[in-house]
Amino acid sequence: MVDIAQFREAMGHFASGVTVVTVSDGEGGVGGLTANAFSSLSLEPPLVLICVDNLSKAREYLDREQAFTVHFLGDHQEEVALAFARRGPDKADGVDWNLSARGTPVLADYLVALECQMENAMEGGDHMIIVGRVLDIRTAGTERPPLTYYRGQINALVPKDS
Ligand SMILES: Cc1cc2nc3c(=O)[nH]c(=O)nc-3n(C[C@H](O)[C@H](O)[C@H](O)COP(=O)(O)O)c2cc1C
Repeated sequence: MVDIAQFREAMGHFASGVTVVTVSDGEGGVGGLTANAFSSLSLEPPLVLICVDNLSKAREYLDREQAFTVHFLGDHQEEVALAFARRGPDKADGVDWNLSARGTPVLADYLVALECQMENAMEGGDHMIIVGRVLDIRTAGTERPPLTYYRGQINALVPKDS
């Protein structure tokens, strides 16, 4: 048997980027979550996947809306990552966002934003594996380094030559 605390600690050693996934809350506002369980999945068709806690409100919104936006965060967006990691409403307080032509919330600031239509969802233990088809790609066109997540810490990635 694997010890859960040991499993969690071991998984923390996998370094990742940080994304914010936004989804409509159905009442004119923004729901969503900070997520590091993101992966590019397929090139043709263009698919990505995210893993979302079954107990989260975001999971409920995603089930209903079937559409979401994944934002890769830059090293200046730690506060946005923390805001979307809070449970409960009003995550986007103080964060600029707009509705896309398709009606999906998109943040004003990001390194890359991927507007997705839910293609597929499957159970993965206490999370849901959600596959999204990428319908639109926005790039900020900046050379900013990404925000990273490693061993429980959200950090700026320090460029090699600095
Ligand atoms: C760096 C970081 C990465 C996270 N990654 C995930 C993730 O991949 N999937 C997930 O379900 N929750 C993840 N979380 C936790 C969610 O962001 C948090 O539980 C979420 O805001 C739930 O809110 P809700 O219940 O209001 O929807 C992460 C939190 C942090 C700080």
